[in-house]
Amino acid sequence: MAEFNVQCSGCGATVDAATHLPFRCPNASDNDNIDHVLVRRLNGADATFPVSAEPNPFIRYRRLSLGYHLARANGLSDDQYVAIVEDLDNAIAEVDGKGFHVTPFAASTALSKKCGAEVWVKNETGNVSGSHKARHLMGVMIYLRVLEATKLPAANGLRDRRLALASCGNAALAAAVIARAADWPLDVFIPPDAEGSVKRRLTELGAQLHICEREAGQKGDPCYLAFRKALENGGLSFGIQGNETGIAIEGGHSLGWEIADALRQTGTELDMLFIQVGGGALGSACFRGLVEARDAGVIKQLPQLLTVQTQGAYPLKKAFDVFRADSNNAARNRSAYMNPWPTEPHSVAHGILDDETYDWLALVRGMAETGGDALVADEDSLREANRVARESTEIDVSHTGSAGLAGLLDTFRDKPNAALKAAVLFTGIER
Ligand SMILES: Cc1ncc(COP(=O)(O)O)c(C=O)c1O
Repeated sequence: MAEFNVQCSGCGATVDAATHLPFRCPNASDNDNIDHVLVRRLNGADATFPVSAEPNPFIRYRRLSLGYHLARANGLSDDQYVAIVEDLDNAIAEVDGKGFHVTPFAASTALSKKCGAEVWVKNETGNVSGSHKARHLMGVMIYLRVLEATKLPAANGLRDRRLALASCGNAALAAAVIARAADWPLDVFIPPDAEGSVKRRLTELGAQLHICEREAGQKGDPCYLAFRKALENGGLSFGIQGNETGIAIEGGHSLGWEIADALRQTGTELDMLFIQVGGGALGSACFRGLVEARDAGVIKQLPQLLTVQTQGAYPLKKAFDVFRADSNNAARNRSAYMNPWPTEPHSVAHGILDDETYDWLALVRGMAETGGDALVADEDSLREANRVARESTEIDVSHTGSAGLAGLLDTFRDKPNAALKAAVLFTGIER
């Protein structure tokens, strides 16, 4: 049996996922300046990387998940765990028209011709609810279902608590699909300018919407602040920020595992990975998945991690600039690196305008380890990237979802190199 634990990467506290939800660090406080994020670790023979053609990533990679090992250590069989995933997945398919499948990852000849490198695309627009976000929350819901099935102490009173998240679109839609499939009430905290089609769909799915206005002089994202208040009043975090729902990151590791699996199958090693960053969960999860795949020998090298934010808000670049100069004690001196963006940000890639990159430390470490960088794309590049993406691939991706390509275009604009293999994640279907 695999050993597993959940540990705060900021203060080092360990959490027993059978008795305490691996969401927010029990020592987290607003004023100790420590970067509290709970991270799960698996060791041991039973956590080996699978060789499998199983189409559902939550079944294929189950031995790499905390929920699986918690289930097995507490009396559930492999079949019983698979049945939990399948039941949930079938319910999701009823709500959304499809369940989880490994998504395509391949080189695009047309895109490569236009971008000055060999471009590989992971297409998440066909995933549950139209983006990768549902991966994060499926992982959380499986864990909650395991708690219920095993009647572990952390399950006490769970069902009396409403799920809550702050989001401006894709995360809310993903949460609403999964909450509906699991028959669990959900509160969503969204900004006033959230798209009408998103609000309509959320309402259709039975989510309770709370529109959060920005008050003059208020620091920090008003949706996030309202969400925090809901948690203080008993709400159960169902968001995708690593500091609030640490275990949500694990579901996103599946992106990195799938990319590594596809690279192994085609005998390819990737040189660069461009990822658009908002709150940071997508980038940190995908990168961690790749690190686990590298450690398991599935791929030999980690690609350079290149994060992409907009000129509207780039708190991660600011943190990386400080980190490059001094990385000592970053986990215990958060405000020297990461601070809420001081003004209201705007961009055509509006899904990555988070005031803070909540999962920043994993990303700056990943960029430093791989010789990567924190890029900032301007509005012209973001628009060009979306046009090029849509013309070259026929993928109906949003500006947020193609923002990583803007960083790639900028990187190769003046120095094309067709020998370099660079990947982007197209996630977030245009609505
Ligand atoms: C389409 C899309 N891509 C990327 C991101 C960024 O993800 P994260 O906030 O985890 O950094 C988002 C977040 O909303 C998104 O909707």
